[in-house]
Amino acid sequence: MLQLDRNLLDKYNIAGPRYTSYPPANHFKEEYGNEQYRTSVIQSNDEDPQRVSVYVHIPFCPQLCTFCGCTTYTGMGQNVIEEYVDVLIQEIETVSKDISKDRKLTQVHWGGGTPNAIDVKLIRKVTDVIKANFNFAEHYEMAMECSPAYLDFDMVDALREMGFNRISLGIQDFKKEVLSAINRRPAKVPVPEMVAYLRKIGFTGINLDLVYGLPFQTVDSFKETVAEALAANPDRLVTFSYAHVPTVIRRQRMLEQYGLPGPNEKITMLEDAYNMALEAGYVAIGMDHFARASDEFAIALKERKLHRNFQGYCTRETTGQVYAFGTSGISQLFNAYSQNEKTIKKYMERVRESGRAVVRGYQLNKNEQIIRQVINEVMCNYYVNFKEIAQSFNASLDEVYSAFNFSVEKIQHFIDDELLKFENDVLQVIGQGRFVVRNIAMVFDPLLAKKIGSYSKTV
Ligand SMILES: C[S@@+](CC[C@H](N)C(=O)[O-])C[C@H]1O[C@@H](n2cnc3c(N)ncnc32)[C@H](O)[C@@H]1O
Ligand code: SF4
Repeated sequence: MLQLDRNLLDKYNIAGPRYTSYPPANHFKEEYGNEQYRTSVIQSNDEDPQRVSVYVHIPFCPQLCTFCGCTTYTGMGQNVIEEYVDVLIQEIETVSKDISKDRKLTQVHWGGGTPNAIDVKLIRKVTDVIKANFNFAEHYEMAMECSPAYLDFDMVDALREMGFNRISLGIQDFKKEVLSAINRRPAKVPVPEMVAYLRKIGFTGINLDLVYGLPFQTVDSFKETVAEALAANPDRLVTFSYAHVPTVIRRQRMLEQYGLPGPNEKITMLEDAYNMALEAGYVAIGMDHFARASDEFAIALKERKLHRNFQGYCTRETTGQVYAFGTSGISQLFNAYSQNEKTIKKYMERVRESGRAVVRGYQLNKNEQIIRQVINEVMCNYYVNFKEIAQSFNASLDEVYSAFNFSVEKIQHFIDDELLKFENDVLQVIGQGRFVVRNIAMVFDPLLAKKIGSYSKTV
């Protein structure tokens, strides 16, 4: 049974990056624009992984949930959505010209926003363009993040027929009171029925998202929600901690009128979810993701081949360099990150002008690539073999350690707190270390000293 050490969590609860990317997005530079991205894409053809991943961003939702931290818009007419899709297609056609056709597409991920709420004809139109411009690998993943409030059997049949084979449903909570406080509608089809149907028609990696820390949630109510989610029998379950950043996401202020669960209650919610998921036979991936032991994420973790990108966890086996299309999309190449314009208006204007709409990005040097790999291994696999990292970068062990100015003193307090082991150039996160993994990653991040941007608390 997991019982978190509150004192330890308090000790390590400081502001720090989430490390969805390294360097974190607040370090991206505005000098990086369309031309640099084009050069990076051409260069990416000669870099690893050779596999190609595509991210498609649909920034529309029929209704805006007040807790949501995503870049998305509501109230757009059908004509705007159609125009957006045409522009998206223009961007895909322009950028894909520079991606070698010898490379295989292994992943397509649709996020948003609520991609499942746009007209199915538009989804098909974009999918056809992806199929025409990329070479699909024999085994590929095509996934969509869906809101169950707009998902019915016809829609999932259509998705399956187009080639979609992975899906994630944003549940957040089953309780009406919680949903209405966050301005969200309940599922159109009962979730257990939908999960069973998705499985029957061939979807795998079926994921449910929950969020804890929302108004009207109590420790007991959240336990019921987790139990209901587990009873639906998904392949994966995520319990996100609600990130409340009302200074950045203004609509989140509206939640303060109801009051929010306190930090202590939130820790209990996390412990309960963790214990319940493990009790039900799931394996913990990170601190808040769970997967059935037979799921590819659980297998990848066991083999230390788990990876992460802006779309969430993935396996090193299938993920490629990510080419993102649509507003705010972040491409993640071996040598660079590139982010698109966030607003629909600017994105459409710029793509119409030149086929691309890069607003900022980052060119990684070799040291930063090494650090990114170390942080990824810490965050995903809880295990870093520095000798292997040196080998994969054709570098000496000294070069690797000096990339982040390493000394054992920097990790000694984690070792003393029994959160880390470090022997023979292998670092292993142990005990409750996985709950302070962001703090551990911070040791390897020389950019923190620059104090750019502000971060949420690590725990
Ligand atoms: C981009 S949303 C897309 C899902 C889909 N539109 C839906 O509503 O079901 C992906 C997930 O991010 C999570 N999320 C969004 N805002 C969050 C926040 N402020 N804190 C924690 N998780 C959040 C939610 O769990 C959500 O399901
Ligand atoms: S949670 Fe999903 S439906 Fe709600 S605003 Fe965010 S992206 Fe849209």
